Amino acid sequence: LPDAQVIVVSNREPYIHNEDKNGDVELVVPASGLVSALEPITRACAGTWIAYGGGSADRQVVDGDDRVQVPPENPSYALRRVWLTEEEYQGYYLGFANEGLWPLCHIAFTRPIFRESDWEAYEAVNRKFADTVVAEARNERPIVLVQDYHFALLPRMIRERLPEAIVITFWHIPWPNSEVFSICPWRERILDGLLGSSIIGFHTQFHANNFTESVDRFMESRIERADAAVSYGGQTTLVHAYPISIEWPVQLLKSLPPVEECRAHIRERFGIPADAKLCVGVERLDYTKGILDRFHALEELFIRYPEMIGKAVFLQIAAPSRGTLPAYKHLHEECQRLAEELNERYGSGSYRPVVLVAEHHSQKDVYKIYRAADICLVTSLHDGMNLVAKEFVAARDDEEGVLLLSTFAGASRELLEALIVNPYDAAMMSEAMRQALIMGPDEQRERMRRMREIVRDNNVYRWAGSMLLDAARLRKRGELDRV
Ligand code: G6P
Repeated sequence: LPDAQVIVVSNREPYIHNEDKNGDVELVVPASGLVSALEPITRACAGTWIAYGGGSADRQVVDGDDRVQVPPENPSYALRRVWLTEEEYQGYYLGFANEGLWPLCHIAFTRPIFRESDWEAYEAVNRKFADTVVAEARNERPIVLVQDYHFALLPRMIRERLPEAIVITFWHIPWPNSEVFSICPWRERILDGLLGSSIIGFHTQFHANNFTESVDRFMESRIERADAAVSYGGQTTLVHAYPISIEWPVQLLKSLPPVEECRAHIRERFGIPADAKLCVGVERLDYTKGILDRFHALEELFIRYPEMIGKAVFLQIAAPSRGTLPAYKHLHEECQRLAEELNERYGSGSYRPVVLVAEHHSQKDVYKIYRAADICLVTSLHDGMNLVAKEFVAARDDEEGVLLLSTFAGASRELLEALIVNPYDAAMMSEAMRQALIMGPDEQRERMRRMREIVRDNNVYRWAGSMLLDAARLRKRGELDRV
């Protein structure tokens, strides 16, 4: 596909321009696994990225076509911003995407909310993005990379208007089994929308299978299991697993201080006593991430092994997002309450076992924290892939540090040398925490070395490369069929 135009579509933009307290424009790179993965790819293929312009200063920096060239320090692609009204944002993003589809697709026992008005806004916004894709397409045959659960209807809308386009849709979150999926009042519409894609990708084979089962159950379709394909309405869609990853951070690591310096700096900044090990959690403040379960496990550790009190501090970095939704507000309050409770119960003098920082941190800051950590806890209740696990491993060029990883995150299929845990099992988690706290450097290195090899080899370029290779094969096959 040498000269094909690549258009990426996502809800979240890779660069947000915000107005700070002094009225100056500041640039924020959001906390989003999707953004960390897609940004290097879009840079490498000098594509166009279409996303919702949500920053308070986003409108100030665009040209007459609502575009801004990014990354700011070395522009290599155009970010085309789409503006949403307050009602659209409310219904499409907060409502249907984040109160409907997000809890529907994750097993976190948060009940999905389906409102007809949200669905209507979702459909209208998908149409708005389809108009923008058509406007940005330089010819009839672009490759459009549609990202995530915000755009289930978009592939069909693109297909209707650009029949020759290759539409590769990647679903960054899990896909539930067909019984769970069936509760969605618009299940056929969602499947029909997605089946406008040439390829639909998931992180794991398990989620790809769940999707195919849902199609089989609810749509007049033919499933070609041997080819991992679905035929529906005269069109064939490949349904594959493509495990997402990160860019191996060579340049980023060069710009960071050595591990020892990061340790000293981070420990001083967050007041971690010299004789306590540093356990970290880094994620968005989200109920799928198992943050409260981590707190419970820490308490369980202290109950089982009282000698560990004073010997471990748990630093939780939790970037706020979707904070106006009740489920997220409630989680924030619970996290604060539990952190305070643990600090009262187990703290003494200047020792506080839990440090909760509910703020956004830059990528550099986050990597410094990874480098300073003795243990990183990724204990999602359910997760598509989870790139924090991969970033932690990539950050540790000293080959030390222990990763505790939920068996319900896609990353656990690849990072087998992590300590794999069930976050619902506080006893198991506390034992794994203890094992991590007392693990010697030789064992740490052995595990870390192997995980680093895997992440370096299966990096995000391989992820994108295998999808684009499949797309090239599809285009070739289409051309041959026409001969
Ligand atoms: C998950 C989703 C992404 C989303 C990110 C951050 O990783 O799969 O699509 O961008 O969360 O969520 P937010 O709603 O803040 O963009």
